[in-house]
Amino acid sequence: MNFRDSVPVVKMGQITSNMYRLGWNERNGGNISLLLDEGDVAGFADTGHVIRTIPTGFDARRLAGKYFLVTGTGKYFRNVADNPEDTLGLVRISADGSCAELLWGYSDGGKFTSEFPAHMMSHMARLAADPENRVVMHCHPTYTLAMNYVHELSDKAFTHTLWQMCTECIVVFPEGVGVLPWMLCGTNEIGEATAEKMRDFRTVIWGMHGIYCAGKTLDETFGLAETVEKAAQIYMLTLPAPRINTIRDDELVRLAEAFGVDYRRDFLS
Ligand code: 13P
Ligand code: ZN
Repeated sequence: MNFRDSVPVVKMGQITSNMYRLGWNERNGGNISLLLDEGDVAGFADTGHVIRTIPTGFDARRLAGKYFLVTGTGKYFRNVADNPEDTLGLVRISADGSCAELLWGYSDGGKFTSEFPAHMMSHMARLAADPENRVVMHCHPTYTLAMNYVHELSDKAFTHTLWQMCTECIVVFPEGVGVLPWMLCGTNEIGEATAEKMRDFRTVIWGMHGIYCAGKTLDETFGLAETVEKAAQIYMLTLPAPRINTIRDDELVRLAEAFGVDYRRDFLS
């Protein structure tokens, strides 16, 4: 079988199509990296040799030998399902961590997303927190972005407001969300800042840019972004009207206790 028909490639096509249709990934906006096990790659005749090597531009030694399926820079999410060889690449991090060995994909001579540092550094941080983490996902969801312009950008304030917007938020992301100020994207610096937040949070807001989420599966990670975006949507839809009801802190506590989640107590007022 060809690697393009493998489960990870097909799933990437489905998830990127969904994200595009939700308006989260206009043009080439957003990127995804999926950590694969050797078993996901073994047995595909077209993944056996290194096509070319691509410098990482940072020290990725802690991920040496690991395989990642990564969206390509400048590629459109809406084209992934139809043309995975062009829009995705399968890479293996070299033994010294200085480059990515391309085993499949980027068929037009392209390379991994410009946000490769943020992805790989986030994988390192999340794997340290949860050895089962496999996914890092970046998107530009409309209402989350809108909220960035009218709401204080701090971990505590932003999280507290999101928790108040939908009953299930504190259950889905009890650790809250990390928030970064606007920073220049595509750099090692934003990668390092994201990874620092990823030690505590699976969700990181890039101020006036978008969301980074991490998780065990594509579905779970998508669900995290979806829940944050839903809460931001409620916030933006209700913003013009006087707020006469809310989910109170004592109710958030009851929810967290009923669902048995370990939440950020210091994020309550
Ligand atoms: P890439 O096309 O390089 O993945 O960049 C898209 C993006 O969203 C940058 O933050
Ligand atoms: Zn982006």
